[in-house]
Amino acid sequence: MINDLWYKNAVVYCVNVETFMDTNGDGVGDFEGLARRLDYLAGLGVTCIWLLPFYPSPRRDDGYDVTDYYGVDRRYGSSGDFVEFMNLARERGIRVIADLVINHTSIDHPWFKEARSNPRSKYRDWYVWSKKRPRNWNKGMVFPGVQKSTWSYDSEARLWYFHRFYDFQPDLNTENPEVREEIKRIMGYWLELGVSGFRVDALPFVVSKKGATVGKPEQDFDFLREMRAFLQWRQGDAMLLAEANVLPDQDLKYFGDSDDRMHMMFNFLVNQNVFYALASGDVRPLTVALKKTKQRPITAQWAYFLRNNDELDLGRLTDEQRQTVFAKMGPEKSMQLYDRGIRRRLAPMLDGDRRRLELAYSLMFTLPGTPVIRYGDEIGMGDDLRLKERQAARTPMQWSTEPQAGFTTAEKSVLPVIDDELYGYRKVNVADQRRDPQSLLNWTERIIRARKEAPEVGWGDWRILPTGSPNVLAIRYDWRDNAVVMVHNLDSKPHRIKLRIDDRERTSLINILANDHSEGGEDGVHKLAIEGYGYRWYRVGGLDYILHRSRS
Ligand code: NOJ
Ligand code: CA
Repeated sequence: MINDLWYKNAVVYCVNVETFMDTNGDGVGDFEGLARRLDYLAGLGVTCIWLLPFYPSPRRDDGYDVTDYYGVDRRYGSSGDFVEFMNLARERGIRVIADLVINHTSIDHPWFKEARSNPRSKYRDWYVWSKKRPRNWNKGMVFPGVQKSTWSYDSEARLWYFHRFYDFQPDLNTENPEVREEIKRIMGYWLELGVSGFRVDALPFVVSKKGATVGKPEQDFDFLREMRAFLQWRQGDAMLLAEANVLPDQDLKYFGDSDDRMHMMFNFLVNQNVFYALASGDVRPLTVALKKTKQRPITAQWAYFLRNNDELDLGRLTDEQRQTVFAKMGPEKSMQLYDRGIRRRLAPMLDGDRRRLELAYSLMFTLPGTPVIRYGDEIGMGDDLRLKERQAARTPMQWSTEPQAGFTTAEKSVLPVIDDELYGYRKVNVADQRRDPQSLLNWTERIIRARKEAPEVGWGDWRILPTGSPNVLAIRYDWRDNAVVMVHNLDSKPHRIKLRIDDRERTSLINILANDHSEGGEDGVHKLAIEGYGYRWYRVGGLDYILHRSRS
């Protein structure tokens, strides 16, 4: 095994340049602002920044509608600002990955303009057309309720074009070898500018056969191998993190079975079951989801998250489970989206309850993979349900009690800063929390520190330990002759559990986060009492564990 797979134990922080920090007073965040906040991110313990799309774009889908893959949207600064930011990040040992949006372009992309206006242009075949309205023109929408079809008529080309997402996002014909070459060229460009890889947008659609006659879904996974080979050849330690909300039997098709496709994937199945566990207190379906997604190639890794830039998609839960989560975390219609999800931020979903927030984060940080934090969640930011669709949870970062939360000096910011009683910037902001040792921000910093000192979680073999309770999840990780055990009580009530630690030599469980340790009985069984929403991080054995870590 290669020791230096950095993504196995990274702490990823997802940020939107547009809403993080504005330095030139135009109300829009910029790269210079993000660069000035790198010390904040370094202090938090972040090791990798995931940049949401920052390319030139009309931003009708917040930048997921690109008009130029080789540039920086002018509102965020220049390419020079980008390079300065990259340099400062590198100086702090922070890697950067960029969103790679290659399933579709903006309808305003010069390629599409040329494609629609000139039938003889090579760009015509870069998109997906049909002479007649396809039979399935109103099937397969990703944004039901908002998006009306997946095919639209273009009066200029006098043809129908395919768009898996909104009608202003025509799909690229990813089977066309020239398109594939161009995708690699885009990757090559940003790698050359120093990124450590990509979050690959909408991957299942990228590899799907597209066209008016396509019946049952069919994929060509070979392109993933091509992408991986190109990436690794250009930059050995770069990685690809796929956005692919697929069923477990598809996982290995995306990872590849011989370490030859995606390095990482977001674990959507576990994400949804984490929310079900948080809503119901029942960890059993989560246990099933963890086991179903256990298998992965040796160099591959899962990315775990709580909330992200989109709605919380609950589409893989049963109807009953989904209703349970809706009832607890998004009961009003205005909180729900696309018939399947919740468009709120984490803190309001958990009623701002500190115990549950810690529980949720502690759980995420100890699932068998790499944690991904969303900007603002480390201080418990809220949402603004007056904003449309997913924008409710995309408001500017709350830095201080100064006007506009210290995000901008402009009177109007790109999206309104939250200013309500519970989650407004006067109540929830970085400056206040930095000064308060008990704040969520400082708690997050400490938990990240603890997570970094438990590399067993990212690297180790893991198994679920029986706790005898449907409400308490215990996972044991083993790596290089060391072991940690992570215990979470999802219930509001306290529980007594018994844990069997089959280690003849190491019978104690040392609490990593607090001063309460546990000595096992003669039979190797630990009796633990865990308060409602309680969590424990234990190291098996003693504090001299580093002395016992083996080399391989
Ligand atoms: C997934 C992104 O996370 C989402 O925000 C976007 O709308 C779609 N892909 C389309 O690019
Ligand atoms: Ca600006």
